[in-house]
Amino acid sequence: MSETERIRQLRKELEQHSIAYYVYDNPSITDQEYDRLLEELMRLEEKHPEMYDPNSVTQRIVGQVLDGFAKVEHAQRMLSLSNVFNKEQIEEFCARILKEDSACQFIVECKYDGLAISLKYENGALVQASTRGDGTVGEDVTANIRTIPTIPMYIEEERPVEVRGEVYMPKESFEALNVLQEERHLPLFANPRNAAAGSLRNLDTNVCRQRKLNIYLYYFQNASDFGIESQQKALEAMEKLHFRVNPIRKLCSNADEIWEFISEMAQKRSSLPYEIDGMVIKANSFALQQKMGTTAKAPRYATAYKFPAEEVETRLLDITIGVGRTGRITPTAVLEPVRVAGTLVSAATLHNRDRIESYDLKINDKVLIDKAGDIIPEVIKALPEKRDGTQRDFVWPEFCPVCSSRLERLEGEADYYCINPDCPARVVESLIHFVSRDAMNIDGLGDKKIQQFHEWHLINSIEDIYRLKEKKDELLSHKGYSEKGVDKLLDNIEKSKQNSLAKLLFGLGIRQVGSKAASILAAHFGSMDALMAAREQEIADIKFIGKVCARSIRDFFEGPDNARLIEHLKELGLNMTEEVHETRETPFTGKTVVLTGTLQNMGRSEAKKLLEEAGASVSGSVSKKTDLVIAGENAGSKLTKARELGVPVMDEEQFMKEIRL
Ligand code: IVH
Repeated sequence: MSETERIRQLRKELEQHSIAYYVYDNPSITDQEYDRLLEELMRLEEKHPEMYDPNSVTQRIVGQVLDGFAKVEHAQRMLSLSNVFNKEQIEEFCARILKEDSACQFIVECKYDGLAISLKYENGALVQASTRGDGTVGEDVTANIRTIPTIPMYIEEERPVEVRGEVYMPKESFEALNVLQEERHLPLFANPRNAAAGSLRNLDTNVCRQRKLNIYLYYFQNASDFGIESQQKALEAMEKLHFRVNPIRKLCSNADEIWEFISEMAQKRSSLPYEIDGMVIKANSFALQQKMGTTAKAPRYATAYKFPAEEVETRLLDITIGVGRTGRITPTAVLEPVRVAGTLVSAATLHNRDRIESYDLKINDKVLIDKAGDIIPEVIKALPEKRDGTQRDFVWPEFCPVCSSRLERLEGEADYYCINPDCPARVVESLIHFVSRDAMNIDGLGDKKIQQFHEWHLINSIEDIYRLKEKKDELLSHKGYSEKGVDKLLDNIEKSKQNSLAKLLFGLGIRQVGSKAASILAAHFGSMDALMAAREQEIADIKFIGKVCARSIRDFFEGPDNARLIEHLKELGLNMTEEVHETRETPFTGKTVVLTGTLQNMGRSEAKKLLEEAGASVSGSVSKKTDLVIAGENAGSKLTKARELGVPVMDEEQFMKEIRL
């Protein structure tokens, strides 16, 4: 056998072993044997670069950084599903279908909480993997899909095959990922679906591989090419091709049987290793599917039953009182730990005093909590009927738990505030905000370090961060602080001095000034001095800023402590200016613009930047407030919506002309 033939053979063989291992959990050779074959393949591939194949097992583990994701138009629209929420609605759905064909069967499958992916194979090899996108146009995510070991790169079928399924993040991977995110001070993922989508759309394929995604296939796009007549047969055919298909599914003849299976799955749901948010019911026969057809959005022959938001009972052990950056007091429920929607929950927000009183909550009460697609779980109900005499009242504090100043409730607001600006809790929260990612983004200075340095009196104010270098010896005297580590931290602090004015402004934590407002203000005024000198009305007149924000900015700078803080930061060498791009009057100035479709001349982010420099606000969705839509190639639903609403549309050629003027 020639070496090139051997390469082909090894690729096939290794792929089969890999599928046996990952898809069937049933290794067909030992790890050592596998590694030996893999090494042989790597050696031969190195010798024969002309044989390069991105689908080779060797390539699944080679990381690459992508420029972006090309748009892909789907040959057949990727539809979504209508929803039903109870047995009655399932009965109605079944009745509609049984009216067409009284002998019809239904197949009930899990509804995975991930994202839909289409996989195309030609001559037995994967050629393209794309996301659903808006249903018509998705994104080419082939490079990231190759990192998922349960997706075959080669199949035993020469004819074209297109299958669709759901890429998801197993519960275990999701929990591990959020632990890691927390350690790195990165935002947590709200649910496995967001985490899966974020991973597949990451430009670094290594990141996607580490995220440990998986897939279930549930749709054989061109099944008719193979004479397949039903969904059940299509799933079996996909299984034969070694696609990962869920064995949990059931053929049912009527609504009662469907409901029975759904109830059974509702029980089993929490013990599955992946998240499901419902069950999908499909008419089994393709002939009937064809006959019933689809609406603009969803097939008439299928629907999704959605499980009710998961509610879990637990015990309220205590209520703690937190003080935020603005002094706002937030009560938090301390709970007996329970698992909700895939994560372990031991705390939940109680919002404010009114909420506690309206629920008539007592410490040691049984409570119901839910976590409807959100990170922050919520107490939704107290269960007073379950009291056993061990309950006691919760007394709302009169004084700040941290600095003991009297708490105040502002007119017309539900919240209480600690109004002492020197309250240590407020100071720490402000410092944490200042160093956070969207603000000054000082690496190595996370929440815990800030707290620690504050306790050690090393950092009591924002200025102190930049004076930390004067206290290096003291820092080094603490356990766990090495010369190298401290130098790195001090270096990061120094570097942050060069940050944009926008980041600094956001970091100062001026009420009403979020990161977007901070960018607009920095771009408009170009310097801290100009902003500080501006009259309230002048600030209020800036598009997207407004009166309330302007008042708050004036209040901030008029406070003597804040003016002094800015002076000190200037002396310490922080950048106080922003490169001002002259805002010429263009057709985009002051307009709310939406970009859609693919631009040939530049990427989305570049177009966005140019538009913002021209004084436009770029928004992600089309509404009545949109002034203009710029449509590139393959523009989808946003363009349709713009036309419906009568929003002016500009093509790329015209956009290039106007923006370059
Ligand atoms: S079939 C033409 N089956 O749910 C029918 N979809 O809400 C298309 N989904 O976009 C979908 N599990 O991402 C189907 N077993 C399953 C599914 C499933 C999850 C997703 C899919 C779809 C969304 C619709």
